[in-house]
Amino acid sequence: MVASRLAKRLLHYDLQTYGQYYQLLNAGQYPQEFQLMVNILTTNETYFFREPKHFEFLQQQIIKSWQGDYFRLWSAASSTGEESYSIGMILAEGLGIRKWEIFGSDVNTDVLASARKGVYLMDRLDNMDQRYLNKYCLKGVRSQEGYFRVDEKIRKRVSFDQINLKTPLPKNLGKFDVIFLRNVLIYFDTATKQDIVQRVISALKPGGYFFISHSETLHSIKTELSMIVPSIYQKPCK
Ligand SMILES: C[S@@+](CC[C@H](N)C(=O)[O-])C[C@H]1O[C@@H](n2cnc3c(N)ncnc32)[C@H](O)[C@@H]1O
Repeated sequence: MVASRLAKRLLHYDLQTYGQYYQLLNAGQYPQEFQLMVNILTTNETYFFREPKHFEFLQQQIIKSWQGDYFRLWSAASSTGEESYSIGMILAEGLGIRKWEIFGSDVNTDVLASARKGVYLMDRLDNMDQRYLNKYCLKGVRSQEGYFRVDEKIRKRVSFDQINLKTPLPKNLGKFDVIFLRNVLIYFDTATKQDIVQRVISALKPGGYFFISHSETLHSIKTELSMIVPSIYQKPCK
């Protein structure tokens, strides 16, 4: 997979071997090439309301009884934004005009650019409630036929920025009530997973919730979290 994804970069520079490409990356002559390689190598599969049980839990068990004054949620591997905007619809319904925000981050700059636009193909909506589609999505017409844009009332509360989960978190990130870290741990070995989970949950408020995918596990990872249901964890209150 790595070889086939990078093959076009070898072609682009007219290189014969991956070793030559590695040297080119390290020589510093093409500083933008490293990010380009990261963008090519990451797998960005995502869709609206993926793993619907998580959104039900968020709505029923967290948002319904929410008492705080500013709800902050981090989608820590946001890809093209479908996860962040799905959450946005849940928060818009449950918290309305109260103060809330969603922060989406990813290492891939291409997916971040497309997340900021918030424009998607209509045929990627299998899991979305028709009510949300009518209320929070603007259907494109003429040249935009077949696409929709997430409504401004959601987009204005959702922001995106680059974070590489393998490096220290930005100092101004702040703390979150809920963190989604779904379908990204699968790409790392146990030691890296341990490191990333530790780093990410350091940004979780006491009592905050941490979501991973149903296909992932924290089995071999040491944390202070308690499992509420499989794939949903909570940080101790104190
Ligand atoms: C399969 S997508 C998951 C998207 C979404 N969370 C979901 O569950 O549908 C995985 C995302 O993780 C991002 N990713 C991979 N390595 C990363 C890293 N070191 N730091 C931040 N994001 C990373 C990829 O760019 C990709 O967009």
